Amino acid sequence: MSGIVVVGAQWGDEGKGKIVDVFAAKADMVVRYQGGANAGHTLVVNGKKTVLHLIPSGILHPERTCVIGPGVVVDVESLLQEIQMLKASGYLQNPKQLLLSESCSIILPYHKALDAAREKALSDQKIGTTGKGIGPAYEDRAARRAIVFGDLYDLENLRSKLELALHEKNSLLEKVYGAPTFKVKDLVQQLQQCAEELAPYRCKDVSALVHKQIKTGRRVLFEGAQGTLLDVLHGTYPYVTSSSTIAGSACTGTGIGPTSISKVLGIFKAYTTRVGSGPFPTELQNQVGEKLQKEGHEFGSTTGRPRRCGWLDLPALKYSIRLNGMTNLALMKLDVLTGHEKIGVCTGYKLNGELLTEFPCSSYELEKVEPVIEYLAGWKEDITQITALKDLPRATTNYIDFVGNQIGTPIDVISVGPGREQTLWVKPLFA
Ligand code: IMP
Repeated sequence: MSGIVVVGAQWGDEGKGKIVDVFAAKADMVVRYQGGANAGHTLVVNGKKTVLHLIPSGILHPERTCVIGPGVVVDVESLLQEIQMLKASGYLQNPKQLLLSESCSIILPYHKALDAAREKALSDQKIGTTGKGIGPAYEDRAARRAIVFGDLYDLENLRSKLELALHEKNSLLEKVYGAPTFKVKDLVQQLQQCAEELAPYRCKDVSALVHKQIKTGRRVLFEGAQGTLLDVLHGTYPYVTSSSTIAGSACTGTGIGPTSISKVLGIFKAYTTRVGSGPFPTELQNQVGEKLQKEGHEFGSTTGRPRRCGWLDLPALKYSIRLNGMTNLALMKLDVLTGHEKIGVCTGYKLNGELLTEFPCSSYELEKVEPVIEYLAGWKEDITQITALKDLPRATTNYIDFVGNQIGTPIDVISVGPGREQTLWVKPLFA
Protein backbone atom coordinates (compact mmCIF):
# COMPACT_ATOMS: atom_id res chain seq x y z
CA MET A 1 0.00 0.00 0.00
CA SER A 2 1.59 3.24 -1.02
CA GLY A 3 -1.23 5.72 -1.43
CA ILE A 4 -0.86 8.91 0.59
CA VAL A 5 -3.66 11.45 0.76
CA VAL A 6 -2.74 15.10 1.28
CA VAL A 7 -5.77 16.90 2.66
CA GLY A 8 -6.56 20.36 4.04
CA ALA A 9 -7.51 20.43 7.73
CA GLN A 10 -9.14 23.88 7.79
CA TRP A 11 -11.18 25.98 5.33
CA GLY A 12 -8.75 25.54 2.44
CA ASP A 13 -5.63 27.48 1.44
CA GLU A 14 -3.52 25.60 4.00
CA GLY A 15 -0.57 25.08 1.65
CA LYS A 16 -1.39 21.67 0.16
CA GLY A 17 0.16 22.72 -3.16
CA LYS A 18 3.56 23.39 -1.62
CA ILE A 19 3.57 20.09 0.28
CA VAL A 20 2.49 18.05 -2.76
CA ASP A 21 5.20 19.76 -4.83
CA VAL A 22 7.82 18.92 -2.18
CA PHE A 23 6.69 15.28 -1.79
CA ALA A 24 6.24 14.78 -5.51
CA ALA A 25 10.05 14.63 -5.74
CA LYS A 26 9.75 11.22 -4.07
CA ALA A 27 6.45 10.01 -5.51
CA ASP A 28 5.60 8.36 -8.84
CA MET A 29 2.19 9.80 -9.50
CA VAL A 30 0.04 12.70 -8.25
CA VAL A 31 -3.75 12.50 -8.52
CA ARG A 32 -6.40 15.22 -8.06
CA TYR A 33 -9.71 13.66 -7.03
CA GLN A 34 -12.30 16.40 -6.31
CA GLY A 35 -13.11 20.08 -6.71
CA GLY A 36 -12.29 22.08 -9.78
CA ALA A 37 -10.84 25.43 -10.77
CA ASN A 38 -12.16 26.88 -7.49
CA ALA A 39 -8.85 25.65 -6.03
CA GLY A 40 -5.69 27.70 -6.21
CA HIS A 41 -2.49 25.86 -5.36
CA THR A 42 0.57 28.13 -5.15
CA LEU A 43 4.05 26.71 -5.68
CA VAL A 44 7.30 28.64 -5.35
CA VAL A 45 10.34 27.09 -7.02
CA ASN A 46 13.63 29.02 -7.18
CA GLY A 47 11.71 32.16 -6.23
CA LYS A 48 9.26 31.77 -9.15
CA LYS A 49 5.56 31.51 -8.29
CA THR A 50 3.23 29.15 -10.18
CA VAL A 51 -0.49 29.01 -9.40
CA LEU A 52 -2.37 25.86 -10.38
CA HIS A 53 -6.13 25.45 -10.31
CA LEU A 54 -6.79 22.05 -11.89
CA ILE A 55 -3.48 20.42 -12.70
CA PRO A 56 -1.93 18.43 -9.83
CA SER A 57 0.93 20.12 -7.98
CA GLY A 58 3.41 17.43 -9.04
CA ILE A 59 3.58 18.87 -12.56
CA LEU A 60 6.74 20.90 -11.89
CA HIS A 61 8.64 17.59 -11.62
CA PRO A 62 8.98 16.47 -15.27
CA GLU A 63 9.16 12.74 -14.44
CA ARG A 64 5.93 12.65 -12.43
CA THR A 65 2.67 11.52 -13.98
CA CYS A 66 -0.18 13.84 -12.98
CA VAL A 67 -3.74 12.60 -13.16
CA ILE A 68 -7.09 14.36 -12.94
CA GLY A 69 -9.57 11.81 -11.62
CA PRO A 70 -13.29 11.39 -12.37
CA GLY A 71 -14.32 13.20 -9.17
CA VAL A 72 -12.98 16.52 -10.48
CA VAL A 73 -15.24 18.97 -12.33
CA VAL A 74 -13.24 20.36 -15.23
CA ASP A 75 -13.48 23.75 -16.88
CA VAL A 76 -11.80 22.80 -20.16
CA GLU A 77 -10.93 26.38 -21.13
CA SER A 78 -9.33 27.03 -17.78
CA LEU A 79 -7.43 23.74 -18.08
CA LEU A 80 -6.10 24.72 -21.50
CA GLN A 81 -4.94 28.08 -20.17
CA GLU A 82 -3.10 26.29 -17.37
CA ILE A 83 -1.48 23.88 -19.84
CA GLN A 84 -0.34 26.80 -22.00
CA MET A 85 1.04 28.69 -19.00
CA LEU A 86 3.02 25.62 -17.90
CA LYS A 87 4.37 24.93 -21.39
CA ALA A 88 5.47 28.57 -21.75
CA SER A 89 7.38 28.23 -18.46
CA GLY A 90 9.22 25.15 -19.71
CA TYR A 91 7.07 22.54 -17.90
CA LEU A 92 4.75 19.86 -19.32
CA GLN A 93 6.84 19.39 -22.44
CA ASN A 94 5.73 15.76 -22.67
CA PRO A 95 1.92 15.39 -22.98
CA LYS A 96 2.16 11.92 -21.38
CA GLN A 97 2.83 13.69 -18.07
CA LEU A 98 -0.81 14.74 -17.73
CA LEU A 99 -3.89 12.50 -17.91
CA LEU A 100 -7.50 13.61 -17.72
CA SER A 101 -10.22 11.08 -16.96
CA GLU A 102 -12.86 10.81 -19.67
CA SER A 103 -15.42 10.49 -16.87
CA CYS A 104 -14.79 13.97 -15.42
CA SER A 105 -17.83 16.24 -15.50
CA ILE A 106 -17.29 19.30 -17.64
CA ILE A 107 -18.07 22.78 -16.36
CA LEU A 108 -19.99 24.68 -19.00
CA PRO A 109 -20.65 28.42 -19.30
CA TYR A 110 -24.22 27.88 -18.04
CA HIS A 111 -22.87 26.43 -14.79
CA LYS A 112 -20.91 29.62 -14.17
CA ALA A 113 -23.90 31.77 -15.14
CA LEU A 114 -26.14 29.86 -12.72
CA ASP A 115 -23.54 30.07 -9.95
CA ALA A 116 -23.43 33.87 -10.36
CA ALA A 117 -27.22 34.24 -10.70
CA ARG A 118 -27.92 32.16 -7.58
CA GLU A 119 -25.37 34.06 -5.50
CA LYS A 120 -26.90 37.36 -6.64
CA ALA A 121 -30.36 36.14 -5.72
CA LEU A 122 -29.18 35.06 -2.25
CA SER A 123 -27.96 38.62 -1.62
CA ASP A 124 -26.69 38.92 1.99
CA GLN A 125 -27.18 35.19 2.55
CA LYS A 126 -24.85 34.27 -0.29
CA ILE A 127 -22.31 31.47 0.14
CA GLY A 128 -19.51 33.56 -1.29
CA THR A 129 -18.63 31.00 -3.95
CA THR A 130 -15.65 31.40 -6.26
CA GLY A 131 -18.08 31.82 -9.19
CA LYS A 132 -16.42 28.94 -11.07
CA GLY A 133 -19.65 26.97 -11.57
CA ILE A 134 -18.67 24.23 -9.12
CA GLY A 135 -22.05 23.81 -7.37
CA PRO A 136 -24.18 23.68 -10.55
CA ALA A 137 -21.72 21.21 -12.15
CA TYR A 138 -21.86 18.80 -9.20
CA GLU A 139 -25.66 19.16 -9.16
CA ASP A 140 -25.76 17.96 -12.76
CA ARG A 141 -23.54 15.00 -11.90
CA ALA A 142 -25.92 13.91 -9.15
CA ALA A 143 -28.92 14.53 -11.42
CA ARG A 144 -27.36 12.25 -14.09
CA ARG A 145 -27.26 14.93 -16.75
CA ALA A 146 -23.58 15.94 -16.65
CA ILE A 147 -21.57 16.22 -19.83
CA VAL A 148 -18.37 14.28 -19.31
CA PHE A 149 -14.99 14.80 -20.96
CA GLY A 150 -15.42 11.67 -23.12
CA ASP A 151 -18.64 13.14 -24.59
CA LEU A 152 -16.58 15.80 -26.35
CA TYR A 153 -15.36 13.12 -28.77
CA ASP A 154 -18.82 12.01 -29.83
CA LEU A 155 -20.35 14.99 -31.59
CA GLU A 156 -23.85 13.64 -32.04
CA ASN A 157 -24.13 12.59 -28.44
CA LEU A 158 -22.67 15.91 -27.27
CA ARG A 159 -25.18 17.90 -29.30
CA SER A 160 -28.16 15.94 -28.03
CA LYS A 161 -26.97 16.16 -24.40
CA LEU A 162 -26.48 19.91 -24.73
CA GLU A 163 -29.94 20.31 -26.27
CA LEU A 164 -31.45 18.54 -23.31
CA ALA A 165 -29.40 20.53 -20.81
CA LEU A 166 -30.09 23.91 -22.39
CA HIS A 167 -33.80 23.24 -22.51
CA GLU A 168 -33.74 23.40 -18.73
CA LYS A 169 -30.80 25.78 -18.08
CA ASN A 170 -31.96 28.49 -20.46
CA SER A 171 -35.40 28.42 -18.97
CA LEU A 172 -33.95 28.76 -15.46
CA LEU A 173 -31.55 31.50 -16.46
CA GLU A 174 -34.14 33.51 -18.37
CA LYS A 175 -37.34 32.98 -16.41
CA VAL A 176 -36.05 32.68 -12.85
CA TYR A 177 -32.96 34.88 -12.89
CA GLY A 178 -33.45 37.19 -15.88
CA ALA A 179 -29.97 36.26 -17.12
CA PRO A 180 -28.69 35.74 -20.71
CA THR A 181 -29.14 32.31 -22.31
CA PHE A 182 -26.85 30.01 -24.36
CA LYS A 183 -27.01 28.39 -27.82
CA VAL A 184 -26.15 24.73 -28.54
CA LYS A 185 -24.26 25.72 -31.69
CA ASP A 186 -21.92 28.09 -29.83
CA LEU A 187 -21.19 25.62 -27.06
CA VAL A 188 -20.51 22.77 -29.51
CA GLN A 189 -18.09 24.95 -31.46
CA GLN A 190 -16.26 26.02 -28.31
CA LEU A 191 -16.07 22.47 -26.92
CA GLN A 192 -14.91 20.97 -30.21
CA GLN A 193 -11.93 23.27 -30.26
CA CYS A 194 -11.04 22.41 -26.66
CA ALA A 195 -11.49 18.69 -27.38
CA GLU A 196 -8.94 18.82 -30.14
CA GLU A 197 -6.36 20.50 -27.95
CA LEU A 198 -7.04 18.20 -25.01
CA ALA A 199 -6.96 14.96 -27.02
CA PRO A 200 -3.35 14.07 -26.06
CA TYR A 201 -4.36 13.98 -22.38
CA ARG A 202 -7.36 11.61 -22.62
CA CYS A 203 -7.45 8.73 -20.16
CA LYS A 204 -10.19 6.11 -20.31
CA ASP A 205 -9.70 4.37 -16.99
CA VAL A 206 -8.04 6.33 -14.20
CA SER A 207 -9.04 3.73 -11.63
CA ALA A 208 -7.15 0.96 -13.46
CA LEU A 209 -4.12 3.18 -13.96
CA VAL A 210 -3.83 4.25 -10.31
CA HIS A 211 -4.64 0.79 -9.03
CA LYS A 212 -1.79 -0.69 -11.07
CA GLN A 213 0.66 1.84 -9.65
CA ILE A 214 -0.33 1.06 -6.09
CA LYS A 215 -0.33 -2.71 -6.65
CA THR A 216 3.20 -2.58 -7.96
CA GLY A 217 4.41 -0.66 -4.91
CA ARG A 218 4.70 2.74 -6.54
CA ARG A 219 4.05 5.87 -4.55
CA VAL A 220 0.88 7.74 -5.36
CA LEU A 221 0.01 11.09 -3.81
CA PHE A 222 -3.65 12.07 -3.76
CA GLU A 223 -3.97 15.84 -3.72
CA GLY A 224 -7.05 17.22 -2.03
CA ALA A 225 -8.53 20.61 -2.84
CA GLN A 226 -10.30 23.06 -0.49
CA GLY A 227 -10.35 21.90 3.15
CA THR A 228 -12.19 19.57 5.51
CA LEU A 229 -14.42 22.31 6.92
CA LEU A 230 -15.72 23.00 3.40
CA ASP A 231 -16.82 19.37 2.92
CA VAL A 232 -20.37 19.17 1.57
CA LEU A 233 -21.43 16.63 4.22
CA HIS A 234 -19.23 17.33 7.23
CA GLY A 235 -18.26 20.98 6.78
CA THR A 236 -19.96 24.14 7.98
CA TYR A 237 -23.03 23.51 5.82
CA PRO A 238 -24.45 25.35 3.89
CA TYR A 239 -21.28 27.48 3.77
CA VAL A 240 -19.28 24.78 2.03
CA THR A 241 -18.20 23.75 -1.43
CA SER A 242 -20.18 21.11 -3.36
CA SER A 243 -17.74 18.21 -3.25
CA SER A 244 -16.55 15.91 -0.52
CA THR A 245 -13.19 17.37 0.49
CA ILE A 246 -12.16 14.77 3.06
CA ALA A 247 -9.64 11.97 2.57
CA GLY A 248 -12.32 9.35 1.81
CA SER A 249 -13.04 11.28 -1.34
CA ALA A 250 -9.63 10.22 -2.72
CA CYS A 251 -11.16 6.74 -3.05
CA THR A 252 -14.50 7.72 -4.56
CA GLY A 253 -13.03 10.46 -6.75
CA THR A 254 -10.38 8.15 -8.22
CA GLY A 255 -11.92 4.70 -8.11
CA ILE A 256 -9.66 2.92 -5.63
CA GLY A 257 -10.51 1.15 -2.38
CA PRO A 258 -9.76 2.49 1.13
CA THR A 259 -7.22 -0.32 1.63
CA SER A 260 -5.02 1.36 -0.99
CA ILE A 261 -4.38 4.30 1.33
CA SER A 262 -1.58 3.93 3.85
CA LYS A 263 -1.27 7.49 5.19
CA VAL A 264 -3.35 10.63 5.43
CA LEU A 265 -1.29 13.79 5.73
CA GLY A 266 -3.28 16.70 7.12
CA ILE A 267 -2.13 20.19 6.22
CA PHE A 268 -2.87 23.06 8.59
CA LYS A 269 -1.75 26.64 8.93
CA ALA A 270 -0.41 28.02 12.23
CA TYR A 271 -3.50 30.24 12.22
CA THR A 272 -6.86 29.99 10.47
CA THR A 273 -8.28 31.60 7.33
CA ARG A 274 -11.58 31.41 5.52
CA VAL A 275 -12.81 32.90 2.24
CA GLY A 276 -16.49 33.50 1.67
CA SER A 277 -19.36 33.49 4.16
CA GLY A 278 -19.99 31.24 7.15
CA PRO A 279 -19.16 30.84 10.83
CA PHE A 280 -15.56 31.33 11.95
CA PRO A 281 -15.26 31.35 15.77
CA THR A 282 -11.63 32.51 16.05
CA GLU A 283 -11.90 35.28 13.44
CA LEU A 284 -10.01 38.46 14.38
CA GLN A 285 -11.72 41.52 12.95
CA ASN A 286 -9.01 43.82 14.26
CA GLN A 287 -5.40 44.84 13.72
CA VAL A 288 -4.12 41.40 14.69
CA GLY A 289 -6.26 39.83 11.94
CA GLU A 290 -5.07 42.48 9.50
CA LYS A 291 -1.44 41.73 10.38
CA LEU A 292 -1.99 38.01 9.72
CA GLN A 293 -3.68 38.85 6.42
CA LYS A 294 -0.89 41.17 5.32
CA GLU A 295 2.07 39.05 6.40
CA GLY A 296 0.48 35.82 5.23
CA HIS A 297 -0.51 37.36 1.86
CA GLU A 298 -3.96 36.08 2.59
CA PHE A 299 -5.72 36.95 -0.65
CA GLY A 300 -7.44 34.25 -2.68
CA SER A 301 -5.26 32.85 -5.47
CA THR A 302 -8.39 32.12 -7.53
CA THR A 303 -10.56 35.18 -6.89
CA GLY A 304 -8.15 37.67 -5.25
CA ARG A 305 -10.64 38.13 -2.41
CA PRO A 306 -9.15 38.97 1.03
CA ARG A 307 -9.22 35.94 3.31
CA ARG A 308 -10.70 36.32 6.79
CA CYS A 309 -8.02 35.56 9.41
CA GLY A 310 -8.01 34.33 13.02
CA TRP A 311 -6.14 32.23 15.57
CA LEU A 312 -5.60 28.49 15.27
CA ASP A 313 -8.71 26.55 16.25
CA LEU A 314 -7.81 23.26 17.95
CA PRO A 315 -11.33 21.77 18.27
CA ALA A 316 -11.73 22.34 14.52
CA LEU A 317 -8.34 20.75 13.86
CA LYS A 318 -9.17 17.73 16.04
CA TYR A 319 -12.48 17.35 14.19
CA SER A 320 -10.54 17.28 10.90
CA ILE A 321 -8.07 14.74 12.24
CA ARG A 322 -11.01 12.49 13.15
CA LEU A 323 -12.96 12.91 9.90
CA ASN A 324 -9.93 12.17 7.74
CA GLY A 325 -8.19 9.62 9.95
CA MET A 326 -5.07 11.80 9.65
CA THR A 327 -1.91 9.89 10.52
CA ASN A 328 0.58 12.75 10.10
CA LEU A 329 0.42 16.53 9.98
CA ALA A 330 2.22 19.40 8.29
CA LEU A 331 2.24 22.76 10.06
CA MET A 332 2.36 25.57 7.50
CA LYS A 333 3.16 29.28 7.48
CA LEU A 334 4.70 29.26 10.94
CA ASP A 335 6.82 32.26 9.90
CA VAL A 336 3.68 34.39 9.56
CA LEU A 337 3.26 34.34 13.36
CA THR A 338 6.62 36.10 13.83
CA GLY A 339 6.34 39.53 15.47
CA HIS A 340 3.21 38.91 17.54
CA GLU A 341 3.78 39.61 21.24
CA LYS A 342 1.36 36.84 22.17
CA ILE A 343 -0.17 34.12 20.04
CA GLY A 344 -3.68 32.89 20.63
CA VAL A 345 -4.79 29.27 20.29
CA CYS A 346 -8.43 28.26 20.67
CA THR A 347 -8.74 25.25 22.98
CA GLY A 348 -12.54 25.08 23.29
CA TYR A 349 -15.73 27.08 22.97
CA LYS A 350 -18.39 28.45 25.29
CA LEU A 351 -22.01 27.96 24.34
CA ASN A 352 -24.82 29.10 26.63
CA GLY A 353 -22.43 29.14 29.59
CA GLU A 354 -21.20 25.59 28.91
CA LEU A 355 -17.70 24.60 27.85
CA LEU A 356 -17.48 22.66 24.56
CA THR A 357 -14.28 20.87 23.61
CA GLU A 358 -15.68 19.30 20.43
CA PHE A 359 -16.32 21.15 17.18
CA PRO A 360 -20.11 21.45 16.73
CA CYS A 361 -21.30 19.84 13.49
CA SER A 362 -24.07 22.39 13.16
CA SER A 363 -23.26 25.79 11.64
CA TYR A 364 -26.16 27.19 13.60
CA GLU A 365 -24.40 26.27 16.88
CA LEU A 366 -20.98 27.22 15.59
CA GLU A 367 -22.24 30.70 14.81
CA LYS A 368 -23.16 31.17 18.46
CA VAL A 369 -20.05 29.84 20.20
CA GLU A 370 -17.42 32.01 21.83
CA PRO A 371 -13.86 30.76 21.50
CA VAL A 372 -11.78 30.01 24.61
CA ILE A 373 -8.34 31.37 23.76
CA GLU A 374 -5.06 30.50 25.50
CA TYR A 375 -2.16 32.84 24.82
CA LEU A 376 1.43 31.74 24.33
CA ALA A 377 4.51 33.95 24.17
CA GLY A 378 5.40 35.13 20.67
CA TRP A 379 8.84 35.54 19.06
CA LYS A 380 10.52 38.31 17.09
CA GLU A 381 13.28 36.41 15.28
CA ASP A 382 13.02 35.83 11.52
CA ILE A 383 12.62 32.06 11.10
CA THR A 384 12.35 31.95 7.31
CA GLN A 385 16.01 31.01 6.77
CA ILE A 386 16.22 28.36 9.48
CA THR A 387 17.09 24.92 8.14
CA ALA A 388 17.26 22.85 11.34
CA LEU A 389 14.59 22.44 13.98
CA LYS A 390 17.12 22.95 16.78
CA ASP A 391 17.73 26.51 15.59
CA LEU A 392 14.12 27.63 16.05
CA PRO A 393 13.61 30.16 18.86
CA ARG A 394 12.45 28.68 22.18
CA ALA A 395 9.05 30.40 21.97
CA THR A 396 8.49 28.88 18.50
CA THR A 397 9.31 25.39 19.76
CA ASN A 398 6.98 25.95 22.73
CA TYR A 399 4.18 26.85 20.33
CA ILE A 400 4.77 23.72 18.21
CA ASP A 401 4.91 21.52 21.33
CA PHE A 402 1.75 23.06 22.76
CA VAL A 403 -0.19 22.37 19.56
CA GLY A 404 1.33 18.89 19.18
CA ASN A 405 0.40 17.91 22.75
CA GLN A 406 -3.16 19.12 22.32
CA ILE A 407 -3.86 17.23 19.12
CA GLY A 408 -1.98 14.00 19.74
CA THR A 409 -1.13 13.40 16.06
CA PRO A 410 2.50 13.78 15.01
CA ILE A 411 3.55 16.97 13.25
CA ASP A 412 6.10 15.66 10.75
CA VAL A 413 6.65 18.72 8.59
CA ILE A 414 7.00 22.41 9.45
CA SER A 415 6.97 25.09 6.78
CA VAL A 416 8.66 28.44 7.41
CA GLY A 417 8.18 30.05 3.99
CA PRO A 418 6.71 29.42 0.54
CA GLY A 419 9.87 27.97 -1.07
CA ARG A 420 10.61 24.24 -1.35
CA GLU A 421 13.76 24.73 0.71
CA GLN A 422 11.87 26.44 3.55
CA THR A 423 10.68 23.07 4.86
CA LEU A 424 11.80 21.50 8.14
CA TRP A 425 11.46 17.75 8.59
CA VAL A 426 10.62 16.32 11.95
CA LYS A 427 10.29 12.88 10.37
CA PRO A 428 10.46 11.87 6.70
CA LEU A 429 7.09 10.92 5.21
CA PHE A 430 8.68 8.33 2.95
CA ALA A 431 11.10 5.89 4.54
P1 IMP B 1 -17.43 27.09 -4.51
O1 IMP B 1 -16.54 25.94 -4.27
O2 IMP B 1 -16.91 28.04 -5.56
O3 IMP B 1 -18.85 26.71 -4.74
O4 IMP B 1 -17.45 28.00 -3.16
C1 IMP B 1 -18.05 27.52 -1.95
C2 IMP B 1 -17.24 28.00 -0.73
O5 IMP B 1 -15.98 27.35 -0.72
C3 IMP B 1 -16.94 29.50 -0.71
O6 IMP B 1 -16.92 29.94 0.62
C4 IMP B 1 -15.54 29.58 -1.29
O7 IMP B 1 -14.85 30.73 -0.88
C5 IMP B 1 -14.93 28.32 -0.70
N1 IMP B 1 -13.83 27.78 -1.50
C6 IMP B 1 -13.92 27.10 -2.66
N2 IMP B 1 -12.70 26.73 -3.10
C7 IMP B 1 -11.84 27.18 -2.18
C8 IMP B 1 -10.41 27.08 -2.04
O8 IMP B 1 -9.71 26.48 -2.86
N3 IMP B 1 -9.88 27.67 -0.94
C9 IMP B 1 -10.64 28.28 0.01
N4 IMP B 1 -11.95 28.40 -0.08
C10 IMP B 1 -12.56 27.85 -1.16
